[in-house]
Amino acid sequence: MRPSRSNRLVAFCYLTAMITALARPAIADATLYDQLGGQAGLTTIVRHMVDLVTTDPRTKDDFDNINLDRLRGRIRDFLCHVADGPCIYKGRPMAAAHEGLDLTQAKFNAVAEDLQTAMEQVGIPYRTQNRLMARLAPLERNIVTK
Ligand code: HEM
Repeated sequence: MRPSRSNRLVAFCYLTAMITALARPAIADATLYDQLGGQAGLTTIVRHMVDLVTTDPRTKDDFDNINLDRLRGRIRDFLCHVADGPCIYKGRPMAAAHEGLDLTQAKFNAVAEDLQTAMEQVGIPYRTQNRLMARLAPLERNIVTK
């Protein structure tokens, strides 16, 4: 006997519900690292960020004579680690990395703003941007010394 139209509809709904239920844990388990686009996403975000901070009049002088290739790699690994990604950050802790730079709260805010602009440029949703910024905010006490 051929299944009736309503039986086929019930089967379709059942199947859709099962697929949704199976897919849900995967969505909930996505790390912030995944939401930032993984390694490729972070590499692009950091490229934009470093382009911004090294041209931003508020911060560009702080990056004179700094090896930017090395810095890009370090910031990417640091953000990857902070976002629960699989990277091992091999740079210095934040206080040691920034000591002697005499960084003010205004400079910290400028770099945070440039990072957010970089994420915006890459199309990272606002909610995900905020998740990363919330994890970085407490670093202010280690970075700002002036
Ligand atoms: C959320 C804020 C910040 C984060 C997450 C961050 C992250 C980092 C990381 C991971 C490094 C590499 C450390 C190493 O190589 O051992 C670094 C170095 C550096 N950061 Fe930051 N930073 C922040 C804020 C700032 C600000 C506000 C400035 C200046 C305006 C700044 C200027 C520098 C400079 C110049 C270096 C290179 C230091 C050196 O190689 O001697 N950073 N930062």
